[in-house]
Amino acid sequence: MSDLTFNKVAGAVLATGLAIVGLREASTIVFAPDRAEQPGYAIDVPEATGGAAEAEAPIDWGTVIPAADIAAGQASFAKCVSCHTIAQGGANGTGPNLWGVMGARPAAHAGYSYSPAMQAHAAEAPVWTFEEMGHFLEAPQRYINGTKMTFVGLKRREELINVIAYLHAQGGQIAIPAPNPVAEPAAAEPAEGEAAAEGEAPAEDAPAPEAAV
Ligand code: HEC
Repeated sequence: MSDLTFNKVAGAVLATGLAIVGLREASTIVFAPDRAEQPGYAIDVPEATGGAAEAEAPIDWGTVIPAADIAAGQASFAKCVSCHTIAQGGANGTGPNLWGVMGARPAAHAGYSYSPAMQAHAAEAPVWTFEEMGHFLEAPQRYINGTKMTFVGLKRREELINVIAYLHAQGGQIAIPAPNPVAEPAAAEPAEGEAAAEGEAPAEDAPAPEAAV
């Protein structure tokens, strides 16, 4: 899907360029009307928006986590501190302490009373992997229907990745997976899929490492 969308966007951009060049030529080369018609087909390419593609593209955690901005993730964790501590041995609050949660079993932190929904989820997905955590933190109540974590979710990919990198840095018990850019079996051109995935996350990470602290 995302590759298709990427192709459409790329196609639309190319087509626009072609159309401009074509029109320019057409205005000067008066005696070549066939040339003026050729670029016209490009207008058929539908305009696609980038937003939906970002939401759908699977995240290649092995690629994005090593490149993530942990300091920015720590800054974003400000959204979580009303309910969570993360220091080792920190107290449970509205939500459980999160030290070492990456790689842990869901609903397993000592002394915290989890919702039945979160406990049921642990039976289905017994480890907080990067992928699981990504789905959960993107939209907690959509991913685990009935969770008592009343948090809207981290909608921006970059922020989601940075927060998870920060969680992982706080006592994470799971290794970062190997990079695997070919995420979708249906994707015809892995090179383009990779380019699309990389375009979102690490690009903006690099410039501001000190902004968070
Ligand atoms: C309004 C309070 C609240 C906020 C804000 C909140 N959480 Fe939670 N969180 C909870 C509650 C409550 C639970 C327990 C959920 C359950 O039992 O269904 C939870 C559970 C979790 C779990 C599962 C822990 C485990 O032991 O399985 C993780 C991970 C988590 N939260 C991460 C975050 C992160 C990261 C943020 C910020 C981006 C955040 N939470 C923001 C209340 C909150």
